[in-house]
Amino acid sequence: MKNLGHTESLRAPLQALIDEASRINSYKPQPYWYPLSIATYDVEEVLAAVDSMCSFRTTMWEKTGRFEEEFARLHGVSEAIMVNSGSSADLLIAFALTNPAGRMRLQPGDEVLLPSVTWPTQIWSVMMAGLKVRLVDTDPRTLNVDLDDLEAKIGERTRAISLVHLMGNPCDMDRVTALCQKHGLVLVEDCCEALGARFDGKPVGTFGLAGSYSFFFSHHITTMEGGGIICSDPDLSDLLRLLRAHGWARNTKHMAPVVMDGLDPRYMFLNWGFNVRPTELQAGFGLEQLKRLGVFQSQRLQNATYLMRSLERYGALMRSIEVHPKAECSWFAVPLMLRESCPFDRSVLLKHLEANGVETRPIVAGNVARQPVCSIFPELQGPPLPGADLVHERGFYIGLHPFAARESLDRLTGVFDSFLKSYA
Ligand SMILES: Cc1ncc(COP(=O)(O)O)c(C=O)c1O
Repeated sequence: MKNLGHTESLRAPLQALIDEASRINSYKPQPYWYPLSIATYDVEEVLAAVDSMCSFRTTMWEKTGRFEEEFARLHGVSEAIMVNSGSSADLLIAFALTNPAGRMRLQPGDEVLLPSVTWPTQIWSVMMAGLKVRLVDTDPRTLNVDLDDLEAKIGERTRAISLVHLMGNPCDMDRVTALCQKHGLVLVEDCCEALGARFDGKPVGTFGLAGSYSFFFSHHITTMEGGGIICSDPDLSDLLRLLRAHGWARNTKHMAPVVMDGLDPRYMFLNWGFNVRPTELQAGFGLEQLKRLGVFQSQRLQNATYLMRSLERYGALMRSIEVHPKAECSWFAVPLMLRESCPFDRSVLLKHLEANGVETRPIVAGNVARQPVCSIFPELQGPPLPGADLVHERGFYIGLHPFAARESLDRLTGVFDSFLKSYA
């Protein structure tokens, strides 16, 4: 392991490559000068990945362990499990809910309430685990689940709520936890867009059984692709570790070793499982990104606040989202909703933004119930979701870059100005 930590001599040439890539904007998709996301990593992350490759420690090893310790500490919980994506994090949580070795043991056909505006893998995970999904309407003011609809949809077969804190905006956790307690429901939180967000001073992801995170390129931290789960129950954490890697006993942390005649203890399978392990390259990358998280978060907040203030003069035409007084939003992007009284069509504004180099997109996947996939899975078709429809039809978002300079934020506002001023 001679190479471990001996990548220093590569710093200068790698930095030169990175500088060149930044100079020519190699990531920025053409023709956008203000894309949805930009690279937030630097030479330290690349050196960490190179270190893993040059020391032949590329598969899940001690850096993954260290990343998990840091990630758990960040959230004040005892357990973190790193995986290869946020979707895998959601998948493992859903499969842990139904696993015969799990403590909560939901039965096939038990119902889980889920948001109608979210990244669809949050919903697919629950379906794949054999549970029945019921989509809850979205509150267009917050982009999170409509809590009145959530309450109204709790029925006899409802066993769990899978929540999302969309765009980094925490749900009203006082009301959600009260509902869960009243009806004896399991709560899990998808925090894939909400790393760093808090409600009443408590990190999201720590209110229920488990929280999932994504470290995809555009997220609060990136490990290229990657994800994580946090929880406070050692048994659950070991079940998640089994599900992460083949059901293989080797990667558990708390379980007593099982001894069985005629079985090599190194090749013991205690459960079924996937293989959604991260690589050491991702974990090393993530350890460096975690050091920058505080700066990323405050810059994101500063830039989001600046942009929203600049756009406030168009408040009669469009608005951003409402944040609960007890919540600290960890801004993921800049979501905007055109008001119902707005005199122009969203498509005209989006065309203007795109033509002027500003990349736009729908709010996550819009109303998932309106995606073509629902024709294959009738369980996704249900009663109307008017709030989600409003988000689908009137919402869009633009990127939020932690390192965007004031001039580029002003230029961005200028692009909005040139379209909106005639309506203001
Ligand atoms: C709310 C939400 N859940 C889950 C995911 C899935 O994460 P990943 O892309 O890492 O699979 C995302 C991705 O952006 C997301 O926004």
